[in-house]
Amino acid sequence: MTAQPTEAAAGAGWDAAVGATVNPSDRRGGTLRLVSSADVDSLDPARTYYVWVWLLQRMLNRTLMAYPTEPGPAGLVPVPDLAERPGRVSDGGRTWTYRLRENLRYDDGTPITSDDIRHAVQRVFAQDVLPGGPTYLVPLLDDPARRYPGPYRTTDPLRSVLTPDERTIVFRLRRPFSDFDHLMAQPCAAPVPRRADTGADYGENPRSSGPYRIAAHRPGTFMHFERNPYWDRATDPVRPALPDRVELTIGVDVDELDERLIAGEFDINLEGRGLQHAAQGRVTTDGVLRSYTDNPRTSFLHFVSIQPHIPPFDNVHARRAVHYAADKILLQRARGGPVTGGDLTTALFPPRLPAHQDLDRYPTGPDLRGDLDAARAELAAAGLPDGFDAVIGTQRGKFRLVADAVAESVARVGIRLTVKELDVASYFSLGAGHPETIREHALGLIVTDWGADFPTEYGFLAPLVDGRQIKRNGGNWNISELDDPRVNELIDQSLHTTDPAERARQWGAVERLVMEHAVILPLVHDKTLHFRNPWVTNVYVHPAFGLYDVQAMGLAPDH
Ligand code: ARG
Repeated sequence: MTAQPTEAAAGAGWDAAVGATVNPSDRRGGTLRLVSSADVDSLDPARTYYVWVWLLQRMLNRTLMAYPTEPGPAGLVPVPDLAERPGRVSDGGRTWTYRLRENLRYDDGTPITSDDIRHAVQRVFAQDVLPGGPTYLVPLLDDPARRYPGPYRTTDPLRSVLTPDERTIVFRLRRPFSDFDHLMAQPCAAPVPRRADTGADYGENPRSSGPYRIAAHRPGTFMHFERNPYWDRATDPVRPALPDRVELTIGVDVDELDERLIAGEFDINLEGRGLQHAAQGRVTTDGVLRSYTDNPRTSFLHFVSIQPHIPPFDNVHARRAVHYAADKILLQRARGGPVTGGDLTTALFPPRLPAHQDLDRYPTGPDLRGDLDAARAELAAAGLPDGFDAVIGTQRGKFRLVADAVAESVARVGIRLTVKELDVASYFSLGAGHPETIREHALGLIVTDWGADFPTEYGFLAPLVDGRQIKRNGGNWNISELDDPRVNELIDQSLHTTDPAERARQWGAVERLVMEHAVILPLVHDKTLHFRNPWVTNVYVHPAFGLYDVQAMGLAPDH
């Protein structure tokens, strides 16, 4: 991402906190005042999925591995946090061994042990009690012949995780998984002591292993954080922990929030959605305010999924006709334009990932408004020279605008789309994410977006295209139900491969195969507009999350 020159010298500049740190400082003290329009999804580290809450978790909880405080590409690679070293791999990639540092304590002064990490991992299996978080650990560690039901239904331990002593933990995976260090950096792998675990209620009174603990939380209203007196700076290579206190105001209406943020009443908006329409115009046209603004990619891809199991999209030429007929400029505008919509893309991987390549399998003409001749040729090849009728699934709001733009695009070659709006709240679980819903409404096309749960090629693309990851009961992200043995085989190879360059090559091949199938029409890499007040120090967009890294921030003197 290139920083654009700024017309005002007042702030650090437009996009100055993307790829670099604004106001680097190690000054301690002060109260950091945060704001969000909505409350956290959960304070139980096993039950959160919001990106901004994962970033908040970095203040409260440590993990064996963690993403470093680092604005550049190094931020994508987990470093040892509670662990002394990255996982030591043996048994052909199946066994991962970590050793805890010495003198680690919770906020009540009790020691953090390997058994607490094991307990955290066991909790992930209790999806009946603790739903909401990621579940990548389950298929890697479960025994299909004797499924582990989680720690609330049995006192037997999970047998694939061993704790030979208080500082050593050994994971025996069912298959090699080269990204395992990334899973050990997710909040759900943060230690939870059994004696404090109250099951579904744990989020109301969680222990802290990080530099801060919760001093008060009134749901929907505020949350206050104070220093964890037992956190030892000498054991933590990741967190500067600068402010003495952090106060989060919750539940401020989005437009009012922007006003009060820009007026300086709050330091930073903690939530990921960024400045809303009203404030966008104001900050982008004011040279000073503009210099306090960042416009990073969120790492979410906005795309249209095309379903080969819904005729006539069983014919690849019908799918390709949609690709060629897409008016990319119209679609980008529908998404919100280049600043608050995103960067147009004809490939899948976010540019920050090593496998990113300039791929344009279905060029849409020099003006990007569609290659209608190519689209008509595909329709002819499909035996549908006059076009066809189909349904595009979406939800109201921004996704609806994209669906309308797709319909307008393809109407030019005789593809007549009906738009079907599905429920917003259950869109990803039971709507777009449920294979039955796709069939019930014959949703040949679906408007959706996706961001990786960890910043690797596997983390980004496997859930969308791995045939073994089709979720028949909902929460499905392989919406097109692609199940190509060549794709699956390359994915498995990548999980055995530790050399990043070789892995990038394998994933480049996966991406080309997926584009041959024409089941994903990529539109934009989403972008957001964020405002940073000039007295906040150590501000940067974390490359692994696409949002400000709140745990790194501090305050200038007198704030
Ligand atoms: N993969 C999920 C999605 O695309 C969540 C991504 C954001 N959350 C996260 N913790 N990475 O909706």
